[in-house]
Amino acid sequence: MTFSPLVGAYPLSRPRRLRQSAWVRDLVAEHRLTVADLIWPIFVHDKDMARDPIRSLEGVDRLSIAEAVREAREAHALGIPALALFPNIDPSLRNDDATAAYDTDGLIARTCRAIKSAVPEIGLIVDVALDPFTSHGHDGILCDGKIHNEKTIEILTRQALVQAEAGADVLAPSDMMDGRIGEIRKALEAQGLTDKLILSYAAKYASAFYGPFRDAVGTSALKGDKKTYQMDSANTDEALREVAMDLQESADMVMVKPGLPYLDIVQRVSETFRVPTFVYQVSGEYAMIKAAVNAGFMDHDKGVFETLLAFKRAGASGVLTYFAKYVAEKLKG
Ligand code: PBG
Repeated sequence: MTFSPLVGAYPLSRPRRLRQSAWVRDLVAEHRLTVADLIWPIFVHDKDMARDPIRSLEGVDRLSIAEAVREAREAHALGIPALALFPNIDPSLRNDDATAAYDTDGLIARTCRAIKSAVPEIGLIVDVALDPFTSHGHDGILCDGKIHNEKTIEILTRQALVQAEAGADVLAPSDMMDGRIGEIRKALEAQGLTDKLILSYAAKYASAFYGPFRDAVGTSALKGDKKTYQMDSANTDEALREVAMDLQESADMVMVKPGLPYLDIVQRVSETFRVPTFVYQVSGEYAMIKAAVNAGFMDHDKGVFETLLAFKRAGASGVLTYFAKYVAEKLKG
């Protein structure tokens, strides 16, 4: 970084001059959060109720398809560019082979069709991973107690095709199998689905911060961990290799996840590759802010906006956040 020779020492230089009132702080702000930065993750369920509150995610409900359509309309009216869809399916539909993942009449396929026909202008991002569909809650197919990479990719590819045919605009593999981006892309091309975007969860870390999400999709009973496929939080260079591979395999956009504990990764990925880089402020980060607010330790809006701006500062193109609708309303007001 080069400094202007005009930056001098106190008392002639007083950085506080630029902070003395709101108008000048606004004028010189280097980063800004806008509604166009927000992706809103929502949960859908197949229970016979419009909304089912998620205990560990205060203010977030699992939605019926009709309710999801209503929310999609509101999100679009607020200017939110895209939704990210996650399913909570009936436990009786889960099995070892995750067959519900590629059911053309499954919950996600039906939700995609309903949202796309009602609000075609909103971007629809769908998670490609098997955890909501397996009996054990892992993101892949188990073979002799181990996650089998190729067998998993086979199912993921079928899942991605069904989602794409149902109207998903963006396929977002969050499974962390090796080579899945390339295989999914080949299958999409072979079907003539050449406009579908792939947002790869390229640098997804094994994290304690996914707890409330697993409650939301109903996989909290998962025994064991996901460390044989999700990344080790000790590693940085490995994230760059993962991103490089996924880009080479044709990912259009990449993601880093979780968010705040991995800001260094967001910054390195965005600086190194200069491709659209997203970050997921995950369920545990959301729950932590809510808990601090409820305990009286933090101002809600200040905490929310400060963390979201941190992602912009680190170079993120946008943020997946459960606060998206709330923040969009605030930004509008
Ligand atoms: C699963 C998936 C997870 C999240 C998004 N997709 C959880 C996991 O890997 O166990 C977490 C999102 C969040 O915590 O908000 N494929």
